[in-house]
Amino acid sequence: MMTDIATLQTDLMGAINSADTLDSLEAVRIAALGKQGSVSALLKTMGSMSPEERQTQGPIINGLRESITSALAGKKADLETADLNHRLASERVDMTLPAPEAPRGTIHPVSQVMDELAEIFADMGFAVAEGPEIEDDWHNFTALNIPETHPARAMHDTFYFPDDMARDGQKMVLRTHTSPVQIRTMTSQEPPIRIIAPGRVYRSDSDATHTPMFHQIEGLVIDKGIHLGHLKWTLETFLKAYFEREDVALRLRPSYFPFTEPSVEVDVGYSVVNGKRVIGGAEGWMEVLGSGMVHRKVIEACGLDPDVWQGFAFGTGVDRLAMLKYGMDDLRAFFDGDNRWLQHYGFNALDVPTLSGGVGA
Ligand code: PHE
Repeated sequence: MMTDIATLQTDLMGAINSADTLDSLEAVRIAALGKQGSVSALLKTMGSMSPEERQTQGPIINGLRESITSALAGKKADLETADLNHRLASERVDMTLPAPEAPRGTIHPVSQVMDELAEIFADMGFAVAEGPEIEDDWHNFTALNIPETHPARAMHDTFYFPDDMARDGQKMVLRTHTSPVQIRTMTSQEPPIRIIAPGRVYRSDSDATHTPMFHQIEGLVIDKGIHLGHLKWTLETFLKAYFEREDVALRLRPSYFPFTEPSVEVDVGYSVVNGKRVIGGAEGWMEVLGSGMVHRKVIEACGLDPDVWQGFAFGTGVDRLAMLKYGMDDLRAFFDGDNRWLQHYGFNALDVPTLSGGVGA
């Protein structure tokens, strides 16, 4: 009996020591201490022993159980520690590894062009102004001399909010142009004013050259003695800097906008090189922006005296400017979020446009 127990102890200790996974250790535990286990079987024999026998055998059998239990616990802790160390070593992130060769993300052409425009106009003394994309009827239309019955309202394919979202009795719209920022600036700042306002605008329209959301940039100058010559110089200086060519030809055409009088549409000359339109020269003309002298009624609506303050305003599509300069031909691709398009047309995040470094980077 004694030798049996000693042999069993040696065997079990050997099995425990050589268990190299938590699973195989568990198998040893069950074989020894489980219901049908060898140590459990020994413990059961104590019930049928005489009191004398139990006095000598009991401590030996219990000693066996205790030593096996603690050997199992010790081995289990060792295996768990080894397992954790292995995971820590294999899942470690080496913070000293070099960064990827080039940053993966790119700057969207719309963001790039907005940065270029802000840079060009900052050099001419223009600050950047902003307004809300959810606009009220008064700022988007009425104050811009587009009353309720005006046909220009129909021209804009406006997205209207439901009547129960009206604010202060004003119907709310998704702004159809950046011109309401003219109003917000004139009603919140003292002239002289020189601002540009880039941002998103919305119209219910969709084809290869129209998307329901697109980007405009507005310009506004309010000062004393401002005339059409200032407007022409500003637009010419801007377009030459933007297209990075001295030979940009401008053509000003009489036009109509309710909020400017007179109103002027501006075309730039292009030439055809290898079948593609390139800005410069005058083989053909492309419309790039709307502009004019700010209408007296608009200046009045903002609480200013039009006999003292005059100015000009202009508005143009940022997406279209990007297409003309960088050669994309489908506007819809701008908003698809296709990574291949962004890799091709996007800009390096580290190339910030500057006048000295070239706004086109
Ligand atoms: N808001 C006009 C448009 O969306 C553009 C414009 C702005 C025209 C300022 C004149 C002056 O078409």
